[in-house]
Amino acid sequence: MVSQARGQARHWHGTGAAPVAARARGVLSSGRMKRVFLETYGCQMNVADSELMAGVLEGAGLTLTDRPEDADAILLNTCAIREHAEQRVLGRLGDFARLKARRPGLVIGIAGCMAQHLRRRLLEEARVVDLVVGPDGYRSLPDLLMRAAAEPVAHVRLDRDETYGDLEPRRGRGTRAWITVQRGCDKFCTYCVVPYTRGRERSLPLADLLRQVRTAAGAGFREIVFLGQTVNSYHDGAHDFADLLRATEDVEGVLRIRYTSPHPSDMSERLIAAMAECPKICPHVHLPLQSASNAVLERMNRTYTIERYHAVVERFRAAIPEIALSTDVIVGFTGETEADFEATCDYMKAVRFDSAFLFKYSARPDTKAFRWTETVSEDEKGRRLTRLIDLQQAISAERNDAWVGREVEVLVEGSGRRQADQLFGKSPQFKNVVFPDDGTPVGTLARVRVAGATSQTLIGAGARATAPIETPLLQISG
Ligand code: 5AD
Ligand code: SF4
Repeated sequence: MVSQARGQARHWHGTGAAPVAARARGVLSSGRMKRVFLETYGCQMNVADSELMAGVLEGAGLTLTDRPEDADAILLNTCAIREHAEQRVLGRLGDFARLKARRPGLVIGIAGCMAQHLRRRLLEEARVVDLVVGPDGYRSLPDLLMRAAAEPVAHVRLDRDETYGDLEPRRGRGTRAWITVQRGCDKFCTYCVVPYTRGRERSLPLADLLRQVRTAAGAGFREIVFLGQTVNSYHDGAHDFADLLRATEDVEGVLRIRYTSPHPSDMSERLIAAMAECPKICPHVHLPLQSASNAVLERMNRTYTIERYHAVVERFRAAIPEIALSTDVIVGFTGETEADFEATCDYMKAVRFDSAFLFKYSARPDTKAFRWTETVSEDEKGRRLTRLIDLQQAISAERNDAWVGREVEVLVEGSGRRQADQLFGKSPQFKNVVFPDDGTPVGTLARVRVAGATSQTLIGAGARATAPIETPLLQISG
């Protein structure tokens, strides 16, 4: 699609660069811009951002549709963290280009990290794109869509102060509400594009967040998941992340509290104490490791050594004995030797994470590491990835096996898609659990005796082992 889209550059207008075109006003006043199809890629922060966008759009009188064929505008909320994520969106744009060929009035917008990353190139090269809007431009989305109906528009200015704290997201249905507490990142890991696509770190005021928590609890959400690129560096000037967790503990209707993803260097005793003392805060931490080799960690600018990382793990395990730990690891980073990789394997075997997201290093333009010549071939990255996946899968299976014979508390999320007579949900440790439908209503807690386990799922007594579970991605950089 992109090659077909290449060609003569188009004229575009940045925000504020042009008055609203008369034709665009015509589109809104004639009521043609009514329905928006919004599709989300990437991490949970993007899911939360899409809920924010949905709130902004509906507030302006637009409606959301889940059928692109019915839409007047298509918005893709995108991810730029790895090259593969961008390729997927470019592929999807091809589908929408065909739709637009049949309906030339259709507005196509790219939002989110990829929009910020590729900026005007998307308008100039991908000729089907009418709107490019970065993560700090969502407040003016209705206006931008309206203008994009007349001429290509880009809003890619990062705004140090934009938190969207005053806006109410339109949440999907379910038991779990995602609440963004902090946007942007100041850590500048050398492989990571996020500081360039999402800008500087900023926290939402605690009062705004508690209002969001109360609204979500009032609407029936029972689990609150706080999100941020480095969520534990949250500070609104007066309150830190531990204060936010403790205040949320007191909100009526909330049964469970989670957060993701923290940065190991910002882990505080106050936070660990809050987790140990507040019963609603779930005993699970996603603690991105990235590598267990100090040489690699230093080149990644992760700001910790493996010894300091492990000290954090030990603090958690001492304070909260039943805690589950998950992580992110990148294999094949520039300069990663066989010995560095072995150090990571050895550490994974020793620490025994409950689960892990494992990635091949993908060089990202704008980042510091992008300037370094890669030293690990794609084949070798693949080999290292497979080895680590096999290793972790065995560990995850063993750790889940250890739950067999025990009882777990499950917050029921729904019934199995293929097996309607089964219910599913998560244990406090964020493990998938399936069990026979005993009539426990969605959004309430069940006690389930674990009779079997796989590397992905705990199986309740009487349930069948094959029940599939959709695991929401709990993965944000950090
Ligand atoms: N290549 C591969 N993985 C990456 N991540 C971030 N940037 C890159 C990259 N350039 C991974 C990290 C992070 C997770 C969200 O994505 O492991 O924690
Ligand atoms: Fe920030 Fe996480 Fe990216 Fe590091 S990996 S720069 S902490 S978002």
